[in-house]
Amino acid sequence: MSTVETAETNIYERRESAVRSYCRSFPVSFAKAEGSILTDAEGNRYIDFLAGCSSLNYGHNDPDMKAALIAHIERNGIAHGLDLHTEEKAAFLEAFEHHILTPRGMDHRVMMVGPTGTNAVEAAIKLARKVTGRRNVIAFTNGFHGMTLGALALTGNRSKRAGAGGVSLPDVTHMPYENSMGEDVDTLAFLEATLNNPSAGIEPPAAFVVELVQGEGGLNAASCEWVQGLARIAKEQGALLIIDDIQAGMGRTGSFFSFDHMGVEPDMVTLAKSLSGYGLPFACVLVRPEHDIWTPAEHNGTFRGNSHAFVTAKVALEKFWADDTLRNQIALKSQVLEERLHGIASRIEGARIKGRGMMRGVDVGSGELADRICAECFRRGLIIETSGAHGEVVKVLAALTIPMDEFRKGLDILEAAVESLSPLPMAAE
Ligand SMILES: Cc1ncc(COP(=O)(O)O)c(C=O)c1O
Repeated sequence: MSTVETAETNIYERRESAVRSYCRSFPVSFAKAEGSILTDAEGNRYIDFLAGCSSLNYGHNDPDMKAALIAHIERNGIAHGLDLHTEEKAAFLEAFEHHILTPRGMDHRVMMVGPTGTNAVEAAIKLARKVTGRRNVIAFTNGFHGMTLGALALTGNRSKRAGAGGVSLPDVTHMPYENSMGEDVDTLAFLEATLNNPSAGIEPPAAFVVELVQGEGGLNAASCEWVQGLARIAKEQGALLIIDDIQAGMGRTGSFFSFDHMGVEPDMVTLAKSLSGYGLPFACVLVRPEHDIWTPAEHNGTFRGNSHAFVTAKVALEKFWADDTLRNQIALKSQVLEERLHGIASRIEGARIKGRGMMRGVDVGSGELADRICAECFRRGLIIETSGAHGEVVKVLAALTIPMDEFRKGLDILEAAVESLSPLPMAAE
């Protein structure tokens, strides 16, 4: 696809909605993908540091998942089964129980929801309201939870909220995330004092919905103390703790869940993105059994539980979460990433690194500069995007399985792109 095509000759200009977005930053036609390499129609190769916005934590077209999926299709396995019992669903649930839930002592049930993350968030807040009989939900500044109206009400981003066309996005109170008011402000003390003040104008909450690393909101990472404090406050307030692990889960921050080793037991967890392992749409909510008070079909939907995703997700669990190999690789790559990002950040005045594990980036101070860096990376063969309230964070979301040499090459490109954009405001040596 040539970028000089006109609206008359370009099918996307002519027929695809103006709402399309990523394709504007990477205006080529992609033809294939393997591991962490994307190839366009002209044969140009790109290292993928976007990974479907963390939907491809195990890279593109993992050979074992692909083989299992092809075998399933070839034997006329169920492609769509509503929420009927199937061998594939049972096998996925068994694997999830065995590799993820049981080792953590989690007694949560798996609620299959519509295919994307926002469906999981909708289901979780509906259930929390039903369980507690309360309407209000506490969300946090810079949080991102999806685009359907309930999830959008939790999402902080003003331009995304504007997409609702002015309808009210009700029954949510946004509270400051850790460090969002500067490191000296104790946001939990503020939250607690506000909730304990019956004249603060806030309804008692049904739930707190929180990301432990804010994926779209600028890679703000909550500390263990803050998360534990939040869990305590939720309990004291009679509210449920819902951890949105849609982007930060499935290994992205170092372990399967972002809350592993934090000593908290969320009432619900929302999962999507890399849950299928293969980039297939698949979302669920993990619900503690005492909160699983749905009556049959009370929260329904045609596409709840994707049969093809059951097949690939099971392979992903068995291949990557049966032992510590991936976890150790993530730890190693996280270290490399941190070191390299420190080097890159030191080239830009005021820049600082953000995030946790393989969910990290550099806050370069402005969205304009972050966009220029990403555009230059793309010109050099690296796909990378921004995040943050002003798009000011250049965000590395490489596949967790990316081979170390490709990972280093991608980071070299990022460094060279930053270097090439002189004059950049250089940090003092
Ligand atoms: C933390 C979080 N929650 C929810 C969503 C919404 O997921 P989806 O885009 O699949 O609806 C996203 C998407 O980026 C996300 O990062």
